[in-house]
Amino acid sequence: MKQLDDEPQRMVLDEHTHYAEFARRHAELWDTLTRLRTMARRPPEAQTEAAVLAAHVDAARQRLASHFAFEERGEYLFYATAARPSLKPVADLLRSQHGEILHELADVCAGLRSGLALSEASTTILRVLERLIDHELDERQLLQRSQVAGLGGGKGRGRSAAA
Ligand SMILES: [Fe+2]
Repeated sequence: MKQLDDEPQRMVLDEHTHYAEFARRHAELWDTLTRLRTMARRPPEAQTEAAVLAAHVDAARQRLASHFAFEERGEYLFYATAARPSLKPVADLLRSQHGEILHELADVCAGLRSGLALSEASTTILRVLERLIDHELDERQLLQRSQVAGLGGGKGRGRSAAA
């Protein structure tokens, strides 16, 4: 198995990051999340050892932390709400979800290292991954709504990120 623990966050992603590096890191993030989902979906008789699952949860959390920090440093939420101030509550909610998602992953990782049942951990992991997908889709929707506003349209349309 590829070593996961020492890889994330060796380098901060920012506006100076070469696109190829950004793309590689993004692909690694989604590869890690996909593997984690596969592990969490295994039937009880084929469950991964708790320590291995915990290492994957931790790797996913670290890569996500880097991804969220990049999103926040890029201040895309700032530009979205500058274009359409009414979106600020949605942007604030999305930003707060970053910390919540990381916290949930840290909790399940700690649980796995202190005896949490694999079935319970797997259920939690799958729920967090679903929440992450919802979060990413809501961010994309926010950006689309702000871009439409920037073009002079789209007043008052769309659903909230909490929907
Ligand atoms: Fe995000």
